[in-house]
Amino acid sequence: MTEEVVASFDGAQSARYREVMQSLVRHVHDFVRDVRLTDDEWHEAIGFLTRTGHMCDDQRQEFVLLSDVLGLSMLTVAVNEVADPAVTQTTVFGPFFVEGSPEIELGGDLAAGAVGQPCWVEGTVRGVGGEPVAGARIDVWEADGEGLYDVQYDCAVTANRGHLFADAAGSFRFWSVRPVAYPIPTDGPVGRLLAAAGRGGMRPAHIHFMIRAAGYRKLTTHLFVAGDEYLSDDAVFGVKEQLIADFVDHPAAQPPPPGGPAGSDWSSMSFDFVLAPDGRVLAPDGRVLAPDGRVLAADQRFG
Ligand code: BEZ
Ligand code: FE
Repeated sequence: MTEEVVASFDGAQSARYREVMQSLVRHVHDFVRDVRLTDDEWHEAIGFLTRTGHMCDDQRQEFVLLSDVLGLSMLTVAVNEVADPAVTQTTVFGPFFVEGSPEIELGGDLAAGAVGQPCWVEGTVRGVGGEPVAGARIDVWEADGEGLYDVQYDCAVTANRGHLFADAAGSFRFWSVRPVAYPIPTDGPVGRLLAAAGRGGMRPAHIHFMIRAAGYRKLTTHLFVAGDEYLSDDAVFGVKEQLIADFVDHPAAQPPPPGGPAGSDWSSMSFDFVLAPDGRVLAPDGRVLAPDGRVLAADQRFG
């Protein structure tokens, strides 16, 4: 039976499509045999997937959330990760990125009035050879001090998101707010899945970054707050040791960098990003892949 279904994809035009679909059929058939899936469970699964689809709209992607809580998003990140330890690691993209965020001047404030403790963020963007990546575009987005992204509020305000460009030395700096841990949306089928498993739905405090520059591989990542209580219990398994940064708290009496708050406590964080060269991806198994997933070499390491 399984081999018959597998063979039904033999005539596929695309070799990659054939490979993916035949492997998928083998794995889901193995799964059904493994758990001896009952008719009722099959109906429940179809109902769950249907409810998940109904939950999706322009603002809400419940299937991505499902992929996230099952660890599929992070596994996909992992198999595409550059294996060079010098390169900054990637993590989940998440559902809250918005195209067309405002440009922020270097040293400017992307919080735009969002609640939270002011936080000064600075760092550099470099290549693996240590060269500054002048002009790198840095997109930043984060939840506010209440743990909510701007798009989760009813009013259409843009806050706590923006993009800026690294200077000639590859440096960047901006004001935002100190991130806090927050719950992923649990009011849909994914929330009920977590509840049935007795799992929490919290994400440790983090700031999202996406960094792009010509000649370099796009970096999609977060920086997590050292000491956060959910670092070892992230609902979407996104934490990597390399991405945990020290956020330093400063009393109001300590003068902040220009543009900082007058008379209130603030925090600061510094992080240096390292981008991989574009055009090739070294998979953990040593294969060198083109950006579109084609295998360029069977087993090589960055030299
Ligand atoms: C986020 O970090 O924005 C996120 C990632 C995965 C699921 C929900 C939220
Ligand atoms: Fe987030």
